[in-house]
Amino acid sequence: MSEYKLPMLPPNVDLETKTVLKQLARANRALAELKGYADTIPNKHILLNAVMINEAKDSSAIENIITTHDDLYKAMSDASGASSAAKEVVSYRTALWFGYEQVKAREMLTTNMIVEIQGVIEKNRAGIRKLPGTVLMNERTGETVYTPPSGENEIRTLLSNLEKYINEDFDDIDPLIKLAVIHYQFESIHPFYDGNGRTGRIINVLYLVLKELLDSPILYLSSYIIRNKSAYYKLLQEVRTEENWEDWIIYILTGIEETAEETLQIVKKINAEVETMSAEIKEKLPKIYSKELIDLLFYEFYTKIAYIENGLSVSRKTAVNYLNALEKEGFLTSEKIGKERIYQNKRLYDLVKYRR
Ligand SMILES: Nc1ncnc2c1ncn2[C@@H]1O[C@H](COP(=O)(O)OP(=O)(O)O)[C@@H](O)[C@H]1O
Ligand SMILES: [Mg+2]
Repeated sequence: MSEYKLPMLPPNVDLETKTVLKQLARANRALAELKGYADTIPNKHILLNAVMINEAKDSSAIENIITTHDDLYKAMSDASGASSAAKEVVSYRTALWFGYEQVKAREMLTTNMIVEIQGVIEKNRAGIRKLPGTVLMNERTGETVYTPPSGENEIRTLLSNLEKYINEDFDDIDPLIKLAVIHYQFESIHPFYDGNGRTGRIINVLYLVLKELLDSPILYLSSYIIRNKSAYYKLLQEVRTEENWEDWIIYILTGIEETAEETLQIVKKINAEVETMSAEIKEKLPKIYSKELIDLLFYEFYTKIAYIENGLSVSRKTAVNYLNALEKEGFLTSEKIGKERIYQNKRLYDLVKYRR
């Protein structure tokens, strides 16, 4: 097994089989529809924060870092009392934003950026593996299924080949097919001691942004991977053992189609809730209503006095009055977390949590 040498990209096989092309069309259609809708939304940060916290939770859950929305809510509003898993999930979302901003600014996705992203997730500077001994095991049996390349030089050579494949379009393979190839290759290089799964899934969305298939980081595969987890591991393995690229690519393309459709539904619902609550606040609290206030109430699924104070440039006292009025009318529910009073937008929270 340790004899296996991971080949460089591109794969030396025909990736665009008939079945792949069929599923590719479906994935591209669903993705284009999501992009089209997302492009029309005025304040995208609202939707992104909501969608990204779910992705952070799901992607971490694949790696057995398990949290609840309640736990996350605490970690986001006041880290001091939060579980370590929740803090890790919040770091994951930070890493996502960081990666997105880098890709937008630099219009490329480099090895160094990937190393930095992993550093943000793991909150350490361990970087690329230097010591041998990393193996991938079957979670159930503990049996070693794959030994990734070892030695920093070997790993860096493979990463630089991957970097070229990501940034230089030296073939005319569709980017969604390439995304499947990139995810497989990255996971197989497995450049870090830990965080490879999560970093690899961040690369997926960054690649979509890089190739302008999305304008903002809104499409994530982790919920799909959780639903189809054993296939995820099995198919990653079969690319190597049987050169079964086809099923792996179809797996990823199906995931893109399904999650694009689901994401479209949820963002439409959040958007509708923004409209509904807007209209209700306008009616019941006309004196405090403003577009900016609504944005602040939906920015995260909770808010704080200071956010209102700064966001609306009002005094602390006014901010408190606004929040109290909103709570009295049932738009927010407050709770003291740590030293601070946190105001939850329960309607948004429930939409994000239950995703329906
Ligand atoms: N047989 C395999 N071949 C290639 N990659 C694999 C295989 N099995 C699992 N993986 C990848 O390894 C990831 C786990 O790696 P790990 O470094 O522990 O990630 P994380 O810390 O994010 O937990 C999985 O999510 C998957 O993407
Ligand atoms: Mg891990």
